Amino acid sequence: MKKIGRNDPCWCQSGRKYKVCHMAFDEKLQKYALEGHMVPDHDMLKTREQIEGIKESSKINIAVLDHVAENICVGMSTEEIDRLVYEKTTGLGGIPAPLDYDGFPKSVCTSINSQVCHGIPSADDILKDGDIVNVDVSTIYNGYFSDSSRMFMLGNVSEDAKRLVETAHKCIDVGLEQVKPWNFLGDMAQAINDYAMSNGYSIVREIGGHGVGLEFHEEPFVSYVTQKGTEMLMVPGMVFTIEPMVNMGKPDIYIDDDNGWTVYTEDGLLSAQWEVTVAVTEDGYEVLTW
Ligand code: MF3
Ligand code: CO
Repeated sequence: MKKIGRNDPCWCQSGRKYKVCHMAFDEKLQKYALEGHMVPDHDMLKTREQIEGIKESSKINIAVLDHVAENICVGMSTEEIDRLVYEKTTGLGGIPAPLDYDGFPKSVCTSINSQVCHGIPSADDILKDGDIVNVDVSTIYNGYFSDSSRMFMLGNVSEDAKRLVETAHKCIDVGLEQVKPWNFLGDMAQAINDYAMSNGYSIVREIGGHGVGLEFHEEPFVSYVTQKGTEMLMVPGMVFTIEPMVNMGKPDIYIDDDNGWTVYTEDGLLSAQWEVTVAVTEDGYEVLTW
């Protein structure tokens, strides 16, 4: 960490002197670091202006998912969902973040039933009665990134599938309860994992959430299977996703060999996921997308 003078302007761009702004904060952070905890770098902490930018991006992100919610139906292909997402996002002045990201060929991820995440929309994949599908929308607007996903239940869904989808939704609330300054990401992870396991489900270990805002995927990696009191300290200005993948059976997964993207449950059982972008505030959290 660079040494800043007491009377120098604070690194947070508030325009205030360091000693009355983030000096005590930095000392506290330093104390945690010396105890061996992971603490965020200053550049992981968003300024007020950056949070405002992410919020504008989030508004489009939410509008796109609302648009999908209004139109999704049995008989529709996931390619049509891709079109809905592309048209709505660009119509509102945004860019779909997945398009061409690391070679991803479409504007949105659509993951059906035993697909865990990163499903690629296709004209061949037709939504049928009883399917559960995750639609994961990531948006760039004015250089700012937002990311959220919802589950959709098509037609007559089994009670088992419904319970999985509802539990995955509740996992977000359970996680949010732990989001506040000076808690650890592991506090959130354990709360989510305990809740999923108490319902007889498991959480995917290899894939998790991420910092987001100035880039699509920023540090830190956000796990939902780690222990209370571990992982990075949460402090105001951090923005990250909560997006646990909840499996009906075992947590094990594999990636589709042919397309290199789509993640499936190893045991072929259902998986469900909801995702929000959340900002840590002075006294808790603010959900930016839902
Ligand atoms: N929300 C997903 C994630 O953060 C979106 C991935 S888009 C893809 O992993 F292009 F990487 F598939
Ligand atoms: Co994400």
